[in-house]
Amino acid sequence: MGKVVSMLYRILCLLLAFLHFQVHCSLSSPSSFLHSAHLCLPEQRAALLEFKNAISLDDYCGPVYSNYPRTSSWNESTDCCSWDGVSCHTVTGHVIGIDLSNSCLYGTLPANSSLFHLQRLQWLDLSSNNLHGSFLENSSLFHRQGLQQLNLAFNDFNGSISSELFNQLVSLTHLNLSYNSFSDLIPYEISLLSKLVSLDLSNNGLRFDSQGFDMLARNLTELRNFIIDSVDMSDAAIPSFMNLTPSLESLSLTDCQLDGELSSEVFSLPYLQHIDLGWNQNLTGYLPKTDLSNAIKLLDLSFCRFRGSIPASFGNLTQIIFLDFSRNDFGGQIPDTFGNLNKLTFLSFSFCNFCGQLPTTMFNLTELTHLDLSHNRLEGSLPNHVSELQLLEDISINNNLISGGVPSWLFTLLSLRRLDLSYNKLTGPIDQIQKPNSLEYIDLSSNDIHGSIPNSFFDLVSLETLDLSSNNLSGVIRSNMLAKLKNRTDLHLSNNSLLSLSTSGNDVNYSFPQLVKVSFSSCSIRQFPSFFRTSTLELLDLSNNKIHGRISKWEAEGWERLSVLNLSYNFLTTLEQFPAGKNIQVLDLQSNMLQGPILSTCLNLQNPNLTQVLVVFLISKNKMTENIPQLICNWSSLMVLD
Ligand SMILES: *[C@@H]1O[C@H](CO)[C@@H](O)[C@H](O)[C@H]1NC(C)=O
Ligand SMILES: *[C@@H]1O[C@H](CO)[C@@H](O)[C@H](O)[C@H]1NC(C)=O
Ligand SMILES: *[C@@H]1O[C@H](CO)[C@@H](O)[C@H](O)[C@H]1NC(C)=O
Ligand SMILES: *[C@@H]1O[C@H](CO)[C@@H](O)[C@H](O)[C@H]1NC(C)=O
Ligand SMILES: *[C@@H]1O[C@H](CO)[C@@H](O)[C@H](O)[C@H]1NC(C)=O
Ligand SMILES: *[C@@H]1O[C@H](CO)[C@@H](O)[C@H](O)[C@H]1NC(C)=O
Ligand SMILES: *[C@@H]1O[C@H](CO)[C@@H](O)[C@H](O)[C@H]1NC(C)=O
Ligand SMILES: *[C@@H]1O[C@H](CO)[C@@H](O)[C@H](O)[C@H]1NC(C)=O
Ligand SMILES: *[C@@H]1O[C@H](CO)[C@@H](O)[C@H](O)[C@H]1NC(C)=O
Ligand SMILES: *[C@@H]1O[C@H](CO)[C@@H](O)[C@H](O)[C@H]1NC(C)=O
Ligand SMILES: *[C@@H]1O[C@H](CO)[C@@H](O)[C@H](O)[C@H]1NC(C)=O
Ligand SMILES: *[C@@H]1O[C@H](CO)[C@@H](O)[C@H](O)[C@H]1NC(C)=O
Repeated sequence: MGKVVSMLYRILCLLLAFLHFQVHCSLSSPSSFLHSAHLCLPEQRAALLEFKNAISLDDYCGPVYSNYPRTSSWNESTDCCSWDGVSCHTVTGHVIGIDLSNSCLYGTLPANSSLFHLQRLQWLDLSSNNLHGSFLENSSLFHRQGLQQLNLAFNDFNGSISSELFNQLVSLTHLNLSYNSFSDLIPYEISLLSKLVSLDLSNNGLRFDSQGFDMLARNLTELRNFIIDSVDMSDAAIPSFMNLTPSLESLSLTDCQLDGELSSEVFSLPYLQHIDLGWNQNLTGYLPKTDLSNAIKLLDLSFCRFRGSIPASFGNLTQIIFLDFSRNDFGGQIPDTFGNLNKLTFLSFSFCNFCGQLPTTMFNLTELTHLDLSHNRLEGSLPNHVSELQLLEDISINNNLISGGVPSWLFTLLSLRRLDLSYNKLTGPIDQIQKPNSLEYIDLSSNDIHGSIPNSFFDLVSLETLDLSSNNLSGVIRSNMLAKLKNRTDLHLSNNSLLSLSTSGNDVNYSFPQLVKVSFSSCSIRQFPSFFRTSTLELLDLSNNKIHGRISKWEAEGWERLSVLNLSYNFLTTLEQFPAGKNIQVLDLQSNMLQGPILSTCLNLQNPNLTQVLVVFLISKNKMTENIPQLICNWSSLMVLD
């Protein structure tokens, strides 16, 4: 049975070959046929082996590096058509395809490489190796070859591209030179490649001029993928974009120095799925009022200068997955029409100058992982009940005008790690947290939140940063709350004038190996909280409170890592020991009531560790009797003293 199929197949291929059809029979041929035939042409085998011997294998090779040395299987005593990465024409035996992507190849590929002697080659993939050379400067490489696909991406090729080269590559349908170091002007002759379906020139040092780009736009009518990220287009005329073929599916022009106004018709191209124009800071334009192509899956206009408002037709982009408008000159309201954008995973409208009500339909998106509406002038309050958003990892609505409470659903989203609602007009209260979740970062600072901090905040098992500073929170933080923290945590609670810390008699029993940075400035602490005696602490700011009395010897022990200590603007009278470990760099004791000799009694002035790290030492506005400058004149590190 297999033999009959092989025979029929062979006859068919012969027929097609006679009819000059360019069909890759080998791709779909039954494997039994391939193995029974010994097709390899001796001079082609020799050329391949010569290439193999001229190129080394990289040391960084293997599954760990996601690559694999295909040429290792290239063995003289076997049919070269069976070698890994080699495809032959099933009838003539000519090598027609080479796929050596991710093959650990290392070395220089010269213009006279034997690889270029394979005259019937139709596709060549050398991507993701470590190959060098500037062989595209040479014009006569691919002479008489019907090369259709060339992929040199992710290597270290350099030099310019010869203009005559493209005269020979007129059969090319796929050209991928991305992530190399090719340089200079892209020759005008690229517009001779009228069969090109996919062109990727991204991330080289290449440049288009006005005429070259215009010719390309007019002549490459088959183009579907046009990827030229970081190609210098500062001389290209933006109106030429209007000549690009309507067959485009993917257009990527990140960081191309485009300058001018893009016609909004680009967003209406019927098959365009992927539009990436990010980081063209002089590119302006508007979104079309209607006719946004609903094929769009990715739309990235970040860091450009698009203007106008978002049209309501936006709600028709039902295929969209990724949407980034951040840092543009948009304005107006965001239309509340996200109800049908069920596939959306990434949404950023940060720094877009939007105003009006916070759209609520986006809180129903089930696939969303990132939501960033920060730095606009959005008003209104957060919805009370949200049960969707179960995949949301990151939500930033900071720097807006959002008012109202901090609803509990924010703390029940299973995947949420980062929550930033800082710089709004939230008044609180903060709802209790119902069940454990994965929040790592919570920033509610600079709002007007009243009430107390729910106990349950300290149950968050993954918490690393909690910033509630600059609010109107009240109540007492107790040592047993802090003792529940599981991770190394930064705690920022400054500027809550009614918030204090308890100092119960049991504090000696607690230790807080988790706290790293603690700022508790401008609150209403009355007594030095001895429970911050922890060896992980790096920053402690208790300035501008109402702390009275003394810091005892044992309270000031154990600060191994502490580098910033601010106790200024309090009512401290006595230090039994210098309040810092050997890594202290900034020590601020200003504006207290410290009396008598202090440095000479509690500080070991000969401690070389101290004298070498302390950079800022502020102790003025106290009641000291010593001549401090004289005492510390040999501290080599000190740069600021007051
Ligand atoms: C080629 O294959 C033969 C038979 O499998 C084997 O004996 C020989 O060592 C191989 N040579 C190389 C260079 O791998
Ligand atoms: C181009 O390659 C051909 C064939 O290897 C060689 O003869 C010629 O000298 C090369 N030209 C340049 C400019 O490198
Ligand atoms: C390729 O050219 C280099 C000089 O550019 C020469 O040393 C080398 O022998 C040539 N190799 C072949 C196979 O012609
Ligand atoms: C290409 O890279 C090689 C090796 O790094 C270098 O010697 C050569 O000058 C570069 N050529 C160009 C045109 O940049
Ligand atoms: C456009 O492509 C055709 C071949 O399809 C070619 O004859 C013509 O010269 C090209 N035009 C330009 C401006 O390159
Ligand atoms: C170019 O090749 C690289 C590496 O294989 C690949 O990641 C990239 O998607 C290719 N570009 C196009 C447009 O196919
Ligand atoms: C934008 O335009 C200004 C003024 O023409 C120019 O100085 C600047 O370099 C341009 N920036 C970019 C990224 O092209
Ligand atoms: C959305 O698409 C529908 C159907 O194509 C159309 O009738 C409607 O006008 C569109 N909505 C907007 C706001 O463009
Ligand atoms: C979210 O969807 C639910 C039903 O799935 C619906 O009841 C609710 O009104 C929607 N909310 C918004 C803001 O669209
Ligand atoms: C803070 O809240 C208290 C009442 O709890 C109130 O008297 C005070 O005015 C508030 N301060 C600010 C700055 O809102
Ligand atoms: C210490 O805190 C006070 C009051 O909060 C502040 O003014 C001062 O700049 C801080 N000192 C240092 C060295 O940062
Ligand atoms: C200085 O630091 C070193 C290393 O951290 C330590 O071994 C030594 O005891 C310290 N010296 C003083 C006087 O604290």
